[in-house]
Amino acid sequence: MKARDILLDDETLFKDEEVFTPSYVPEDFLHRDSQIKEITLSLKPGLRGVNPVNTLVHGPCGTGKTTAIKYIFNEVNQASSKLVTVYVNCEDHNTRFGIFSKIHEILFGVSPPDTGKPLNAVKEKVFRKLSKENKSLVVALDEIDQLFLNQTVDKLLMDLLKAHTTYGYDRVGVVGILVDRSVMADLDQKAKSVFNPIEVFFPPYSLSEVEDILATRVRYGLYDSVLSKKLFAEIASKTYDVGDLRFGIDLIRRSALFAEQDSVRKIDSEHVEKAFGTSKDKKFEQILNSLDASERKFMEILVGTGPVRSGDLYVKYREKTGSGVKKYNQLISKLEHVGLIETMPLPGRGQSREIKTRYDLDNVREILGL
Ligand SMILES: Nc1ncnc2c1ncn2[C@@H]1O[C@H](COP(=O)(O)OP(=O)(O)OP(=O)(O)O)[C@@H](O)[C@H]1O
Ligand SMILES: [Mg+2]
Repeated sequence: MKARDILLDDETLFKDEEVFTPSYVPEDFLHRDSQIKEITLSLKPGLRGVNPVNTLVHGPCGTGKTTAIKYIFNEVNQASSKLVTVYVNCEDHNTRFGIFSKIHEILFGVSPPDTGKPLNAVKEKVFRKLSKENKSLVVALDEIDQLFLNQTVDKLLMDLLKAHTTYGYDRVGVVGILVDRSVMADLDQKAKSVFNPIEVFFPPYSLSEVEDILATRVRYGLYDSVLSKKLFAEIASKTYDVGDLRFGIDLIRRSALFAEQDSVRKIDSEHVEKAFGTSKDKKFEQILNSLDASERKFMEILVGTGPVRSGDLYVKYREKTGSGVKKYNQLISKLEHVGLIETMPLPGRGQSREIKTRYDLDNVREILGL
């Protein structure tokens, strides 16, 4: 088949392929009622003209944190114009100016003029407009951990939450979103006390919740009988093992694409197997590439040792990085939390654990470029 024949061939197994894309916000947002309620209640004061309650949203990858915020912000915008909602992904905007530009963009419809305007001028313009219009502001800082890398976070929180001292405006709330809340312990004392958030945890979904959510996606996205019950159950169970819904959504999409490539009308188990291989590698690569320098170093050492006793690994880690045991233990819990490593208690050895990667060592080496 020529490229053009492939492109023009409109036989498809997808009723709506968009429901499998990363930016799709589902209409049916299932099994997150209590989290939605808690977050909404903390925003509600903003609709009454005072500051929303600061909130920290945390939980493992692919548990619906970003989706929940986008969903709630949509609802707020439909209910009232008293509370201005600004969503920022800190991977894309990680400076104070960048984040205030986003706020400016929402308020004025355009980015601030790119004439080297100092941050203070933009801040003043933003807060003046909000005061004049009698509106509150909530800023969601998704992936807020990115702001720790360049030491932006403390100053930014003061910019937003201490705006009253300079600009007389005190109706700001911040929603921080991240996987591992322990990072927040690194805030400086002042920022910690002005932020002081309520916390909302997004736990991994249970198997039946994963099934419910994926079944809804399949209903919207694929034609009937493209995916058998048996293969669906297999995909749901693999997704549950990985603990990330994004993985399951991607797996269904890739399986269907492989079936399309074979010009058949049903996904078979080989398509799922093949898609499983590629989806698993992709997820794993994403996680490895998002590590900071010390986490990378840790993985490099672990790849060198293979499965190893925690105490022995610590000695090597300290030699290479000079870090103490507290930092080491925090690293282990974070990497276990994001699914890169697993730890197993060693029988009869008190606190001692064995640590190993959850993926093939050669694979890890290759992605880390070792
Ligand atoms: N309860 C749900 N109902 C329907 N779809 C969901 C639900 N939870 C998550 N999803 C879907 O799963 C995918 C991952 O969700 P989302 O991006 O919100 O996760 P996250 O917790 O922000 O992950 P990360 O920490 O990696 O950023 C998205 O495609 C989202 O639409
Ligand atoms: Mg997210």
